[in-house]
Amino acid sequence: MARSYLALALSALALTATIAHANVQLHASGDDDAWLRPDFRRNMIVEAGAAAFTHETVHCDPNAVGSVAGCFDQSIPAVGNVDFVFGAPQVAYPTDGAPWGVHLTGPYPDGRTYLVSWYTGAPTIGATVTKPDTSSMKTTAAVRKAGSNGWTKHSGSVITYLRAYSDPALVNGTYLSAHIHHVVLPRLDPNTFYYYQVADASGKLMGEWRFKTLPATGSKTTYPLRIGLIADVGQTVNSSDTRDHLMAHKPQVVIMVGDNSYADNYGALSTEDRNGKGTNQQRWDTYQQLWQPLYATVPVLNCAANHELETTGIPAVVNYTTTSFSYPANFPFQSYSARFPVPGTTSNFGDITQNLYYSTVIGGKVKLITMNNYVPFHKGTPQYDWAMKEFASVDRKKNPWLFVQFHAPPYHTYYVHYKEMDCFMSIWEDVFYEYGVDLVLNGHVHAYERTHPMYKYQPDTCGPIYITIGDGGNVEGPYRNFVDEINPKTNKTYCEALNYGGVNPVSMAASNPSGWGPGYQRQAHAPNCPTVTFQPATSVNNGILVPSNMTAAGAAPMGFCQNSQPTWSAYRDPSFGHAILELQSDTVAHFSWYKNLEGNAVAMDDVVLERLDSCASRMGMDMGGDMMGRRMMRSSA
Ligand SMILES: *[C@@H]1O[C@H](CO)[C@@H](O)[C@H](O)[C@H]1NC(C)=O
Ligand SMILES: *[C@@H]1O[C@H](CO)[C@@H](O)[C@H](O)[C@H]1NC(C)=O
Ligand SMILES: *[C@@H]1O[C@H](CO)[C@@H](O)[C@H](O)[C@H]1NC(C)=O
Ligand SMILES: *[C@@H]1O[C@H](CO)[C@@H](O)[C@H](O)[C@H]1NC(C)=O
Ligand SMILES: *[C@@H]1O[C@H](CO)[C@@H](O)[C@H](O)[C@H]1NC(C)=O
Ligand SMILES: [Fe+2]
Repeated sequence: MARSYLALALSALALTATIAHANVQLHASGDDDAWLRPDFRRNMIVEAGAAAFTHETVHCDPNAVGSVAGCFDQSIPAVGNVDFVFGAPQVAYPTDGAPWGVHLTGPYPDGRTYLVSWYTGAPTIGATVTKPDTSSMKTTAAVRKAGSNGWTKHSGSVITYLRAYSDPALVNGTYLSAHIHHVVLPRLDPNTFYYYQVADASGKLMGEWRFKTLPATGSKTTYPLRIGLIADVGQTVNSSDTRDHLMAHKPQVVIMVGDNSYADNYGALSTEDRNGKGTNQQRWDTYQQLWQPLYATVPVLNCAANHELETTGIPAVVNYTTTSFSYPANFPFQSYSARFPVPGTTSNFGDITQNLYYSTVIGGKVKLITMNNYVPFHKGTPQYDWAMKEFASVDRKKNPWLFVQFHAPPYHTYYVHYKEMDCFMSIWEDVFYEYGVDLVLNGHVHAYERTHPMYKYQPDTCGPIYITIGDGGNVEGPYRNFVDEINPKTNKTYCEALNYGGVNPVSMAASNPSGWGPGYQRQAHAPNCPTVTFQPATSVNNGILVPSNMTAAGAAPMGFCQNSQPTWSAYRDPSFGHAILELQSDTVAHFSWYKNLEGNAVAMDDVVLERLDSCASRMGMDMGGDMMGRRMMRSSA
């Protein structure tokens, strides 16, 4: 099954340009288009190299999942797909006051500030636990530039969080975290190696970790800029494979698109029993230990996702009318917020209201807007107002690259989580398009998929490329079924079996104002948000229609289901792995996906992306001049 990508990817740049694609009319109308600012639009994004024309499905690897039947049967567990047991050396942590779970967050928006976080001591678990007042406690970290002897000390905060179970059956699982230390490291020189130390429980500085700051605005050398991409990572042997493979590729920063520990798969009372009753917070601690080798040496840009919501067994809700949360106890995203404050945070660590979404600048060149599809995102909500300001303030001359991350993927073709984001996209897809977002990064689906640049189910070089990178290796295993694949047990596509609680998407959207999707997604939907959209038959190979009940009244039968990989999907493989995005200039990037089972030497999906002027002229695409020698993505024709 191994694909042999040779190192000739770049030499393929010399191929002839081909065809333009169909025009796509924008349809913003009336007052609603007040935010349209054509000067913020970029540039089309095109693919070059060996993989530019790929339109490929790699079926699951029978060796990875035990049997061929296992590829199509979710009930057959994948090999190796278990978490390290609690106390295993890979995840054990000291309880004697030494620092553990060290991790870096950053860069902050100024490009020169990072956050170092760590733990001392152990959690307390029991029925009668009270949260101590740590507000007057101080902690310390020290940094020194490589090659210099002088340590600079910075002081910071110590927090704890309490997860008190309201369910009497879980009360003995009430968890008080270890001391969580957060120290802001400001004014670091860009592009520079630093050593740092952090305080133990007694305040003594210990350890010595090294990391390199990223270039910042104005740095002389910015490129190449290597960004690691992972999501849905967990704490299995596969997770540590992903970690080690990613580290070997020496990313300068990691974008981690959510679903960190999978602690919520466990019971409040058991670190081994995955009964999901209450969410075992100690599994967050083991997660921090497993990932420390990467997270302590490379700054991470994290993202709040559904496994960070953690509402089971405590009085915590998020719903459309809940646009803010009372802090500090028992709220959604509590553990995540306490442990991973977002870049920009300098005080009030652990406050979830400031940790739900954020933006920052990577290497002085990439504006990264991190959204949250699990809290309300409609017009009139705080997230909407915030994100619209962020998009409007992007200056493409300073930050030529524009990426958006949020957890659930709008465009992917796997059976699990198919089309959960149609409500979200009914609001945000036009915004991404208008502001010329280059890449949309998602996880959630435990597999890999890359789309061509696209818009509304059609290839479109003025739209973003969507990357689903939820293949980090977590305990739930890879998602193996494509939605268009024929289930040998029924001779129908898997799509035909889609349902939540026995209700299929079309019926659910018709009967339920918050529409299609799992409860944790629907709770963020405004009433009557459109949640089921239908792709045109032309976006599926050859336009072949299949009879399907997943169809709007009067629509072509292909509308919801499909019987083959759609033309907008470039490459998909239901395996674990990670990706490296190497930005080489303001216009060229090299994207590579590595599959754990194939090792690190060969990228299984490998494509060069170019940002070209300009979408303003996309209707009469000029094929001469600077287009010569560049290759357009293939059209849907
Ligand atoms: C997970 O790791 C185990 C042990 O190395 C391996 O056998 C298995 O194939 C891996 N699973 C996937 C999906 O990569
Ligand atoms: C909690 O633990 C105490 C002490 O071990 C025990 O007596 C009690 O029955 C436990 N409660 C529950 C609900 O398990
Ligand atoms: C949503 O939150 C509001 C405000 O707390 C509450 O009144 C309402 O009952 C909640 N709705 C649901 C469906 O939980
Ligand atoms: C599926 O189709 C194959 C080939 O036509 C046939 O042999 C098989 O019995 C069918 N299975 C079901 C469950 O209908
Ligand atoms: C559509 O639904 C009807 C009624 O439930 C069923 O008889 C028919 O087999 C379904 N068609 C397909 C293609 O699944
Ligand atoms: Fe997820």
